Amino acid sequence: MAFLLGIDIGTSGTKTVLFDETGKTIASDTQEYPLYQPKNGWAEQDPEDWKRATFVSIRNVLNKSGVNPEDVKGVGLSGQMHGAVLLDKDNNVLRKAIIWCDQRSAAECEEITAKVGAKRLIEITANPALTGFTASKVMWVKNNEPEIFEKIRKILLPKDYIRFCLTGEYATEVSDASGMQFLDVPNRCWSDEVLSKLGLNKDMLGKVYESQEVTGTITRIVAEITGLKEGTPVVGGAGDQAAAAVGNGIVKEGVISSTIGTSGVVFAYTDKVSIDPLGRVHTFCHAVPNTWHIMGVTQGAGLSLQWFRNNFCQPEMASANLIDTDVYQLLDKAADLSGVGANGLVYLPYLMGERTPHLDPDCRGVFFGLSAKHTKRDMLRAIMEGVAFSLRDCLEIIKSMGVDVQEVRASGGGGKSPLWRRIQADVFGTPIYTISSSEGGALGVALLAGVGAGVYKSVAEACDATIKVVTKQDLNSENHKVYDGYYKLYNNLYNSLKNDFKVLAGLNKA
Ligand code: XUL
Repeated sequence: MAFLLGIDIGTSGTKTVLFDETGKTIASDTQEYPLYQPKNGWAEQDPEDWKRATFVSIRNVLNKSGVNPEDVKGVGLSGQMHGAVLLDKDNNVLRKAIIWCDQRSAAECEEITAKVGAKRLIEITANPALTGFTASKVMWVKNNEPEIFEKIRKILLPKDYIRFCLTGEYATEVSDASGMQFLDVPNRCWSDEVLSKLGLNKDMLGKVYESQEVTGTITRIVAEITGLKEGTPVVGGAGDQAAAAVGNGIVKEGVISSTIGTSGVVFAYTDKVSIDPLGRVHTFCHAVPNTWHIMGVTQGAGLSLQWFRNNFCQPEMASANLIDTDVYQLLDKAADLSGVGANGLVYLPYLMGERTPHLDPDCRGVFFGLSAKHTKRDMLRAIMEGVAFSLRDCLEIIKSMGVDVQEVRASGGGGKSPLWRRIQADVFGTPIYTISSSEGGALGVALLAGVGAGVYKSVAEACDATIKVVTKQDLNSENHKVYDGYYKLYNNLYNSLKNDFKVLAGLNKA
């Protein structure tokens, strides 16, 4: 039996999982680390923490599993996207990595747009300049820390720095590289035009591979530290969203995922480059050769329910704790006692501004239609419905780009809730499915490692061998009609409040 290792370098920790070739989890280990926020809106992490967490978690997984390292046929890397790891000529990390959620680089986004040209930037990188992406972070260092910029020899993404530590190779792969904004996304190679317009050069970046290709092998010293066998192949892997999509089987037309984590993501596979000219959804290379993906991101999905739980559900948290139950199961039951449309209460989930479809950092959360008859049950229900409306916004844009939607697979913490799946089915007007594994990203990159190591012939074959649909939630067409009315109102509300959100942001700053 072949075994495959998936390593996911996330924001809260690194999770390493060993799978057998049927996709069964054999052992798993997570090592956490801090997030540094030196200023409001800034977010940094120490790449040395990722390295330590990776080495420790690999060793722990191998020890727990008892599997012979000879039988681990490949390693796949996944991770938080967009972060900038800057190395000097001796491969020392020059400063903490500025990571995906850091918002300091708005001025640099304007600079990039002016230097490359708004239209040309979207043609080449398939996306408008965004503070989240790597390019604006590097330009911020150029503008604000020139003494560090001078010393940069390599710019690597978080998981690609770990690849360097494991194999000694400077390499990346197309899905994560797409989020740097240096990649020619249609042609899957670095863009000389973007790099030269920004005063950077290709030597500063790793070699670009397809996600399933072998990019290097485990070095002798790493083998000694971790217990892996020297020479074990390490494949490209994928950025966390593309990796999770492979782990959910989103590798063919018609199958879409709807993930409710802290944020919400609707992810679709496409075999041609399809770009939203308004930049409301991201178009990136997918982890399957010669395919791409479109991804709508809504900022405050699971976050909305978590915020409500933390602030208003102390008694429910205590009760759940007393009976050793997940508090979200209680909240689910309470929300189910309200009705479709939450008795006329509508929630806009913009607690952290919004990416898709509004690209608006200033909009904020709203409960609309509150009356004295409403209860906590209605508020919980309205939150779950509002999040489903925001995911429908993503889905509608993806459909309008010509993507066929036949099957929607729910995943993430929110996907575990039967009520939230029912609400999604009724709001989207499609059945909602769940699959056998919930390992997402780690499974996705382990499958890519399996393709690279020859265990499976292709990513599609790997997914067929390991991923099974286990539940189906049908839609109720009566409810769908009711939700259509609420969805229309939900969209009108943003348009009505758009200017007031700006006024509020101004007042709040003053
Ligand atoms: C994708 C994105 C997140 C990060 C962190 O665009 O910003 O998925 O990769 O998880």
